Amino acid sequence: MAIQISLFNHKGGVSKTTTAFNLGWMLAEKGKRVLLVDCDPQCNLTGMVLGFQGADDFASIYEAGGVRNIRDGLAPAFESRPVPIEPVECEQVPGQPNMLLLPGHIGLAEYEVTLGIAQELSGSLVTLQNLPGCLHHLFQITAKKYKIDCILVDMSPSLGPINQNLLMTSNYFLVPMAPDYFSVMATDSLASVLPKWRAWSSQAQGLSVLQKATYPYPKITPKFLGTVVQKYRLREGSTPSAAFQKWIDAIEEGVRTKLIPALNGCDMMLPNKTYEGAKVIPQKPLLQMSDFNGLIALSQKHKAPVFDLTDKQLEQTGIVLARTKKSMKLFRDLFSVGADKVIALTK
Ligand SMILES: Nc1ncnc2c1ncn2[C@@H]1O[C@H](COP(=O)(O)OP(=O)(O)OP(=O)(O)O)[C@@H](O)[C@H]1O
Ligand SMILES: [Mg+2]
Repeated sequence: MAIQISLFNHKGGVSKTTTAFNLGWMLAEKGKRVLLVDCDPQCNLTGMVLGFQGADDFASIYEAGGVRNIRDGLAPAFESRPVPIEPVECEQVPGQPNMLLLPGHIGLAEYEVTLGIAQELSGSLVTLQNLPGCLHHLFQITAKKYKIDCILVDMSPSLGPINQNLLMTSNYFLVPMAPDYFSVMATDSLASVLPKWRAWSSQAQGLSVLQKATYPYPKITPKFLGTVVQKYRLREGSTPSAAFQKWIDAIEEGVRTKLIPALNGCDMMLPNKTYEGAKVIPQKPLLQMSDFNGLIALSQKHKAPVFDLTDKQLEQTGIVLARTKKSMKLFRDLFSVGADKVIALTK
Protein backbone atom coordinates (compact mmCIF):
# COMPACT_ATOMS: atom_id res chain seq x y z
CA MET A 1 0.00 0.00 0.00
CA ALA A 2 1.11 3.56 -0.72
CA ILE A 3 1.82 5.65 2.34
CA GLN A 4 -0.39 8.69 2.77
CA ILE A 5 1.06 11.94 4.13
CA SER A 6 -1.23 14.89 4.70
CA LEU A 7 -0.18 18.53 4.96
CA PHE A 8 -2.41 20.06 7.53
CA ASN A 9 -2.89 23.30 9.37
CA HIS A 10 -6.24 25.03 9.70
CA LYS A 11 -4.33 28.29 9.50
CA GLY A 12 -4.46 29.50 5.91
CA GLY A 13 -1.59 30.68 3.73
CA VAL A 14 1.12 28.80 5.60
CA SER A 15 2.55 27.10 2.50
CA LYS A 16 0.68 23.79 2.57
CA THR A 17 0.19 23.78 -1.18
CA THR A 18 3.63 25.15 -2.02
CA THR A 19 5.26 22.56 0.24
CA ALA A 20 3.19 19.72 -1.24
CA PHE A 21 4.33 20.63 -4.74
CA ASN A 22 8.02 21.26 -4.01
CA LEU A 23 8.52 18.45 -1.50
CA GLY A 24 6.57 16.08 -3.73
CA TRP A 25 8.81 16.98 -6.65
CA MET A 26 11.92 16.34 -4.57
CA LEU A 27 10.60 12.96 -3.39
CA ALA A 28 9.87 12.13 -7.03
CA GLU A 29 13.39 13.19 -8.02
CA LYS A 30 14.68 10.75 -5.43
CA GLY A 31 12.85 7.94 -7.18
CA LYS A 32 9.57 7.80 -5.25
CA ARG A 33 6.36 7.57 -7.26
CA VAL A 34 4.33 10.49 -5.88
CA LEU A 35 0.62 11.24 -6.14
CA LEU A 36 -0.44 14.79 -5.22
CA VAL A 37 -4.08 14.86 -4.15
CA ASP A 38 -5.81 18.23 -4.17
CA CYS A 39 -8.38 18.07 -1.36
CA ASP A 40 -8.87 21.82 -1.13
CA PRO A 41 -12.06 22.90 -2.92
CA GLN A 42 -10.15 26.09 -3.85
CA CYS A 43 -8.05 23.88 -6.15
CA ASN A 44 -4.84 25.91 -5.74
CA LEU A 45 -2.63 22.86 -6.17
CA THR A 46 -4.49 21.86 -9.32
CA GLY A 47 -4.07 25.39 -10.67
CA MET A 48 -0.40 25.40 -9.74
CA VAL A 49 0.47 22.02 -11.21
CA LEU A 50 -1.43 22.34 -14.41
CA GLY A 51 -0.77 26.04 -14.71
CA PHE A 52 -3.71 26.49 -16.97
CA GLN A 53 -4.55 30.09 -17.66
CA GLY A 54 -8.21 30.02 -18.48
CA ALA A 55 -11.39 28.11 -17.78
CA ASP A 56 -11.30 26.61 -21.27
CA ASP A 57 -8.21 24.57 -20.46
CA PHE A 58 -9.59 23.25 -17.19
CA ALA A 59 -12.68 22.09 -19.02
CA SER A 60 -10.75 19.07 -20.30
CA ILE A 61 -10.56 17.74 -16.74
CA TYR A 62 -13.99 18.73 -15.60
CA GLU A 63 -16.12 18.16 -18.65
CA ALA A 64 -14.46 15.29 -20.49
CA GLY A 65 -15.81 11.82 -19.81
CA GLY A 66 -14.39 9.48 -17.19
CA VAL A 67 -13.42 10.09 -13.62
CA ARG A 68 -10.82 12.83 -13.62
CA ASN A 69 -11.07 14.69 -10.32
CA ILE A 70 -11.73 14.09 -6.65
CA ARG A 71 -15.42 15.00 -6.68
CA ASP A 72 -16.22 12.64 -9.55
CA GLY A 73 -14.11 9.96 -7.86
CA LEU A 74 -16.18 10.17 -4.66
CA ALA A 75 -19.57 10.71 -6.32
CA PRO A 76 -20.63 7.01 -6.38
CA ALA A 77 -20.47 6.92 -2.57
CA PHE A 78 -21.76 10.41 -1.81
CA GLU A 79 -24.52 10.34 -4.37
CA SER A 80 -25.49 6.72 -3.62
CA ARG A 81 -24.97 5.63 -7.21
CA PRO A 82 -25.22 1.89 -7.81
CA VAL A 83 -21.66 1.74 -9.16
CA PRO A 84 -18.41 1.20 -7.28
CA ILE A 85 -15.78 3.90 -6.76
CA GLU A 86 -13.14 3.55 -9.45
CA PRO A 87 -9.61 4.94 -9.73
CA VAL A 88 -9.27 8.54 -10.92
CA GLU A 89 -7.57 9.17 -14.25
CA CYS A 90 -4.78 11.38 -12.94
CA GLU A 91 -2.80 14.11 -14.67
CA GLN A 92 0.89 13.58 -15.30
CA VAL A 93 2.82 16.51 -13.80
CA PRO A 94 4.69 18.15 -16.69
CA GLY A 95 8.46 17.77 -16.33
CA GLN A 96 8.33 15.22 -13.51
CA PRO A 97 7.65 11.69 -14.76
CA ASN A 98 7.40 10.29 -11.21
CA MET A 99 4.65 12.65 -10.08
CA LEU A 100 0.93 12.70 -10.81
CA LEU A 101 -1.95 14.89 -9.72
CA LEU A 102 -5.40 13.83 -8.62
CA PRO A 103 -7.14 17.10 -9.47
CA GLY A 104 -9.36 18.94 -7.01
CA HIS A 105 -12.94 20.10 -7.53
CA ILE A 106 -14.83 23.00 -6.00
CA GLY A 107 -17.80 20.66 -5.61
CA LEU A 108 -15.92 18.62 -3.00
CA ALA A 109 -17.21 21.24 -0.54
CA GLU A 110 -20.76 20.01 -1.23
CA TYR A 111 -19.89 16.70 0.46
CA GLU A 112 -18.70 18.34 3.67
CA VAL A 113 -22.09 18.40 5.39
CA THR A 114 -23.02 14.80 4.51
CA LEU A 115 -19.65 13.52 5.65
CA GLY A 116 -20.10 15.49 8.87
CA ILE A 117 -23.42 13.72 9.50
CA ALA A 118 -21.85 10.31 8.77
CA GLN A 119 -19.02 11.12 11.15
CA GLU A 120 -21.38 11.83 14.01
CA LEU A 121 -21.55 8.02 14.17
CA SER A 122 -25.16 8.24 15.27
CA GLY A 123 -28.34 6.27 14.46
CA SER A 124 -28.51 7.28 10.80
CA LEU A 125 -25.07 5.79 10.18
CA VAL A 126 -26.21 2.67 8.33
CA THR A 127 -27.30 4.64 5.28
CA LEU A 128 -24.05 6.61 5.34
CA GLN A 129 -21.72 3.78 6.35
CA ASN A 130 -19.69 3.90 3.12
CA LEU A 131 -18.65 7.52 3.51
CA PRO A 132 -16.05 7.56 6.31
CA GLY A 133 -13.85 5.02 4.46
CA CYS A 134 -14.40 6.14 0.88
CA LEU A 135 -11.78 8.89 0.57
CA HIS A 136 -9.01 6.58 1.73
CA HIS A 137 -10.31 3.88 -0.59
CA LEU A 138 -10.35 6.22 -3.60
CA PHE A 139 -6.76 7.36 -2.97
CA GLN A 140 -5.49 3.83 -2.46
CA ILE A 141 -7.03 2.33 -5.59
CA THR A 142 -5.84 5.32 -7.60
CA ALA A 143 -2.34 4.94 -6.12
CA LYS A 144 -2.36 1.26 -7.01
CA LYS A 145 -3.27 2.01 -10.62
CA TYR A 146 -0.22 4.28 -10.96
CA LYS A 147 2.19 2.23 -8.76
CA ILE A 148 2.47 5.11 -6.30
CA ASP A 149 4.76 4.95 -3.24
CA CYS A 150 3.69 8.15 -1.55
CA ILE A 151 0.40 10.07 -1.59
CA LEU A 152 0.69 13.73 -0.55
CA VAL A 153 -2.64 15.21 0.50
CA ASP A 154 -3.03 18.98 0.24
CA MET A 155 -5.81 20.21 2.51
CA SER A 156 -7.93 23.32 2.89
CA PRO A 157 -7.41 25.58 5.92
CA SER A 158 -10.29 24.30 8.04
CA LEU A 159 -11.24 22.02 10.92
CA GLY A 160 -14.19 20.58 9.02
CA PRO A 161 -15.27 16.94 8.63
CA ILE A 162 -13.36 16.39 5.36
CA ASN A 163 -10.08 17.45 6.97
CA GLN A 164 -10.86 15.39 10.05
CA ASN A 165 -11.32 12.36 7.80
CA LEU A 166 -8.28 13.07 5.62
CA LEU A 167 -5.96 13.57 8.54
CA MET A 168 -7.17 10.59 10.54
CA THR A 169 -6.89 8.24 7.56
CA SER A 170 -3.36 9.35 6.67
CA ASN A 171 -0.36 7.38 7.88
CA TYR A 172 1.63 10.53 8.56
CA PHE A 173 1.16 14.29 8.68
CA LEU A 174 3.25 17.43 8.33
CA VAL A 175 2.18 20.76 9.85
CA PRO A 176 3.19 23.76 7.72
CA MET A 177 3.53 27.03 9.62
CA ALA A 178 4.38 30.65 8.98
CA PRO A 179 6.56 32.53 11.46
CA ASP A 180 3.81 34.68 12.92
CA TYR A 181 1.48 35.04 15.88
CA PHE A 182 -1.37 33.16 14.21
CA SER A 183 0.71 30.05 13.63
CA VAL A 184 1.56 30.04 17.34
CA MET A 185 -2.17 30.25 18.10
CA ALA A 186 -2.83 27.47 15.58
CA THR A 187 -0.38 25.20 17.45
CA ASP A 188 -2.53 25.61 20.56
CA SER A 189 -5.72 24.71 18.79
CA LEU A 190 -4.13 21.72 17.06
CA ALA A 191 -3.03 20.48 20.48
CA SER A 192 -6.65 20.62 21.56
CA VAL A 193 -8.35 19.33 18.37
CA LEU A 194 -6.11 16.45 17.30
CA PRO A 195 -6.66 14.31 20.43
CA LYS A 196 -10.42 14.73 19.93
CA TRP A 197 -10.14 13.64 16.31
CA ARG A 198 -8.06 10.68 17.38
CA ALA A 199 -10.69 9.67 19.96
CA TRP A 200 -13.36 9.94 17.27
CA SER A 201 -11.27 7.83 14.89
CA SER A 202 -10.74 5.06 17.49
CA GLN A 203 -14.48 4.98 18.03
CA ALA A 204 -15.10 4.76 14.27
CA GLN A 205 -12.53 1.97 13.99
CA GLY A 206 -14.43 0.00 16.60
CA LEU A 207 -17.85 0.25 14.93
CA SER A 208 -18.85 -2.89 13.08
CA VAL A 209 -21.20 -0.92 10.84
CA LEU A 210 -18.16 0.94 9.45
CA GLN A 211 -16.02 -2.17 9.24
CA LYS A 212 -18.69 -4.03 7.27
CA ALA A 213 -19.16 -1.15 4.83
CA THR A 214 -18.23 -1.43 1.15
CA TYR A 215 -15.37 0.96 1.95
CA PRO A 216 -14.40 0.06 5.51
CA TYR A 217 -13.08 2.85 7.72
CA PRO A 218 -9.32 2.14 7.85
CA LYS A 219 -7.50 1.18 11.04
CA ILE A 220 -4.76 3.80 10.87
CA THR A 221 -3.16 5.94 13.56
CA PRO A 222 -1.57 8.98 11.91
CA LYS A 223 1.91 9.93 13.07
CA PHE A 224 3.47 13.38 13.30
CA LEU A 225 6.47 13.90 11.01
CA GLY A 226 7.15 17.50 12.00
CA THR A 227 6.53 21.12 11.15
CA VAL A 228 7.53 23.04 8.05
CA VAL A 229 8.28 26.70 8.66
CA GLN A 230 8.28 28.87 5.55
CA LYS A 231 8.58 32.42 4.38
CA TYR A 232 10.74 34.13 6.94
CA ARG A 233 13.05 36.81 5.60
CA LEU A 234 16.79 36.50 5.93
CA ARG A 235 19.03 39.12 7.42
CA GLU A 236 22.13 39.89 5.33
CA GLY A 237 24.05 36.68 5.71
CA SER A 238 21.87 33.70 6.35
CA THR A 239 20.19 33.82 9.76
CA PRO A 240 16.53 34.77 10.08
CA SER A 241 16.04 38.35 11.22
CA ALA A 242 15.23 38.82 14.91
CA ALA A 243 11.54 39.46 14.26
CA PHE A 244 11.11 36.11 12.51
CA GLN A 245 13.39 34.23 14.87
CA LYS A 246 11.10 35.28 17.71
CA TRP A 247 8.12 33.54 16.06
CA ILE A 248 10.15 30.51 15.01
CA ASP A 249 11.19 30.12 18.66
CA ALA A 250 7.60 30.60 19.87
CA ILE A 251 6.33 27.93 17.45
CA GLU A 252 9.04 25.54 18.60
CA GLU A 253 8.10 26.20 22.22
CA GLY A 254 4.40 25.60 21.49
CA VAL A 255 5.17 22.38 19.63
CA ARG A 256 7.42 21.16 22.45
CA THR A 257 5.22 22.07 25.41
CA LYS A 258 1.72 21.63 23.96
CA LEU A 259 1.45 19.85 20.63
CA ILE A 260 3.91 16.99 21.24
CA PRO A 261 2.54 16.14 24.72
CA ALA A 262 -1.00 16.17 23.27
CA LEU A 263 0.05 13.89 20.40
CA ASN A 264 1.97 11.61 22.76
CA GLY A 265 -1.19 11.25 24.80
CA CYS A 266 -3.10 9.83 21.82
CA ASP A 267 -0.40 7.73 20.16
CA MET A 268 0.16 10.15 17.27
CA MET A 269 3.96 10.40 17.72
CA LEU A 270 6.46 7.98 16.19
CA PRO A 271 8.77 6.13 18.57
CA ASN A 272 11.65 8.36 19.74
CA LYS A 273 14.20 6.11 18.11
CA THR A 274 12.54 6.62 14.72
CA TYR A 275 13.02 10.40 15.01
CA GLU A 276 16.57 9.88 16.24
CA GLY A 277 17.34 7.48 13.39
CA ALA A 278 16.09 10.07 10.89
CA LYS A 279 18.08 12.87 12.62
CA VAL A 280 14.82 14.68 13.38
CA ILE A 281 14.13 16.60 16.57
CA PRO A 282 10.30 16.63 16.56
CA GLN A 283 9.86 20.11 18.07
CA LYS A 284 12.27 21.65 15.54
CA PRO A 285 11.09 22.30 11.99
CA LEU A 286 11.62 19.29 9.77
CA LEU A 287 12.01 21.81 7.00
CA GLN A 288 12.73 25.52 7.46
CA MET A 289 12.64 27.69 4.40
CA SER A 290 13.28 31.39 3.95
CA ASP A 291 11.29 33.55 1.56
CA PHE A 292 11.56 32.31 -2.02
CA ASN A 293 11.34 35.94 -3.15
CA GLY A 294 11.25 36.22 -6.96
CA LEU A 295 11.58 32.46 -7.42
CA ILE A 296 8.00 31.80 -6.34
CA ALA A 297 6.44 33.73 -9.23
CA LEU A 298 8.75 32.03 -11.74
CA SER A 299 8.02 28.65 -10.19
CA GLN A 300 4.31 29.23 -10.64
CA LYS A 301 4.74 30.61 -14.14
CA HIS A 302 6.79 27.63 -15.32
CA LYS A 303 5.04 24.96 -13.22
CA ALA A 304 8.46 23.95 -11.90
CA PRO A 305 9.73 23.71 -8.33
CA VAL A 306 11.60 26.69 -6.88
CA PHE A 307 14.81 24.64 -6.91
CA ASP A 308 14.66 23.49 -10.52
CA LEU A 309 14.28 26.48 -12.82
CA THR A 310 16.51 26.69 -15.89
CA ASP A 311 18.65 29.76 -16.66
CA LYS A 312 16.24 30.62 -19.44
CA GLN A 313 13.24 30.42 -17.07
CA LEU A 314 15.05 32.61 -14.54
CA GLU A 315 15.12 35.42 -17.13
CA GLN A 316 18.26 36.94 -15.60
CA THR A 317 21.90 37.48 -16.48
CA GLY A 318 25.24 38.27 -14.86
CA ILE A 319 25.56 38.79 -11.11
CA VAL A 320 21.81 38.72 -10.57
CA LEU A 321 21.57 35.29 -12.23
CA ALA A 322 24.53 34.02 -10.22
CA ARG A 323 22.91 35.17 -6.96
CA THR A 324 19.55 33.63 -7.85
CA LYS A 325 21.21 30.34 -8.75
CA LYS A 326 22.97 30.35 -5.41
CA SER A 327 19.69 30.72 -3.53
CA MET A 328 18.05 28.12 -5.77
CA LYS A 329 20.84 25.72 -4.81
CA LEU A 330 20.16 26.49 -1.14
CA PHE A 331 16.46 25.63 -1.58
CA ARG A 332 17.40 22.46 -3.45
CA ASP A 333 19.65 21.36 -0.59
CA LEU A 334 16.97 22.18 2.02
CA PHE A 335 14.23 20.27 0.20
CA SER A 336 16.62 17.40 -0.40
CA VAL A 337 17.46 17.09 3.31
CA GLY A 338 13.74 17.47 4.14
CA ALA A 339 12.78 14.73 1.67
CA ASP A 340 15.49 12.43 3.07
CA LYS A 341 14.05 12.97 6.56
CA VAL A 342 10.54 12.18 5.34
CA ILE A 343 11.82 9.02 3.65
CA ALA A 344 13.72 7.96 6.78
CA LEU A 345 10.72 8.63 9.08
CA THR A 346 8.27 6.75 6.88
CA LYS A 347 10.44 3.71 6.12
N1 LIG B 1 8.88 30.16 1.21
C1 LIG B 1 8.06 31.02 0.57
N2 LIG B 1 8.52 32.22 0.13
C2 LIG B 1 7.71 33.09 -0.50
N3 LIG B 1 6.41 32.88 -0.75
C3 LIG B 1 5.90 31.71 -0.36
C4 LIG B 1 6.67 30.72 0.33
N4 LIG B 1 5.87 29.67 0.59
C5 LIG B 1 4.65 29.99 0.11
N5 LIG B 1 4.66 31.21 -0.45
C6 LIG B 1 3.51 31.95 -1.03
O1 LIG B 1 2.61 32.19 0.04
C7 LIG B 1 1.26 32.05 -0.40
C8 LIG B 1 0.57 31.01 0.42
O2 LIG B 1 1.17 29.75 0.14
P1 LIG B 1 0.30 28.46 -0.10
O3 LIG B 1 -0.78 28.73 -1.07
O4 LIG B 1 1.24 27.36 -0.39
O5 LIG B 1 -0.30 28.32 1.36
P2 LIG B 1 -1.48 27.37 1.84
O6 LIG B 1 -1.20 27.04 3.25
O7 LIG B 1 -1.64 26.25 0.90
O8 LIG B 1 -2.71 28.35 1.73
P3 LIG B 1 -4.28 27.95 1.89
O9 LIG B 1 -4.49 27.79 3.36
O10 LIG B 1 -5.01 29.12 1.31
O11 LIG B 1 -4.48 26.69 1.13
C9 LIG B 1 1.33 31.72 -1.88
O12 LIG B 1 1.17 32.89 -2.61
C10 LIG B 1 2.72 31.17 -2.06
O13 LIG B 1 3.18 31.40 -3.36
MG1 LIG C 1 -3.35 25.63 -0.14
